[in-house]
Amino acid sequence: MNQKAIGVFDSGLGGLTAVRELCRRLPHEDIIFFGDTGRVPYGSRSREVIRKYAAQDMRFLQNNDVKMIIAACGTVSSAAADVGDALPLPFTGVVIPASRAAAEVSRSGRIGVIGTAATIASGAYRREISRINPDAQIFEQSCPLFVPLVEGGFVDRGDPVTRMVAERYLAPLREQKIDTLILGCTHYPIIAGIIRDIMGSAVTLIDTGAEAAREAERMLDRLGLKNDSAKPGRCSFYVSDRVQGFAALGSLFLGREIDGEVLHVDVDTL
Ligand code: DGL
Repeated sequence: MNQKAIGVFDSGLGGLTAVRELCRRLPHEDIIFFGDTGRVPYGSRSREVIRKYAAQDMRFLQNNDVKMIIAACGTVSSAAADVGDALPLPFTGVVIPASRAAAEVSRSGRIGVIGTAATIASGAYRREISRINPDAQIFEQSCPLFVPLVEGGFVDRGDPVTRMVAERYLAPLREQKIDTLILGCTHYPIIAGIIRDIMGSAVTLIDTGAEAAREAERMLDRLGLKNDSAKPGRCSFYVSDRVQGFAALGSLFLGREIDGEVLHVDVDTL
């Protein structure tokens, strides 16, 4: 069991921000990543559709005999929060670990959350943070244009379009004098530089993919499922749209070249 891979999925490429942290923390683990690039974005869809897509994504990973599954997608983790409940495998999403990290780090208890429309409409981060700290004040903002901008590659710190959009979305959160901001979608760390420039360095940004990776490490430790091999782990990448182009944009998210093979998955077969 310990030799099996960790399965990670997202609607698109954002989940690679979790893979990046997993590779850093657990260099001996094999990882199978599935990005449902043919159906991204999930964030503008209904709960029913998000739930159905997430179940198919998880089935793909289960068919590949993984030992645990990480939903490295803020939208799935919030709008379909119970999607991992029936799994016969360890499972984590991003909402619980990221909310815990934000509640721990915030001194003022004034916490902002940004995410897709479905994530913010679900109220999942608000519920989880309030459960941990009932006195916390939570300010939420959906940022529906961020995912298409990031997937489109408009990610340079100086990009005028992304900066203008971010200024518009983040202005209400600046006014609320938050000290912690949850980047509630795994695509957002790619534009963290722009977000930090606008929010100021006094605001701590919580990277949800990285927090999910930390949680996965804790779970594997607790369950005795860590791979104890001395060999470096291997990453395999699967996408549901064209494989061409994935490596170029994907390496931005992963923080290094995607050197392994990228394979196509037909979601209609799942
Ligand atoms: N990475 C997904 C998330 O964390 C992207 C959102 C989308 O597909 O709309 O929410």
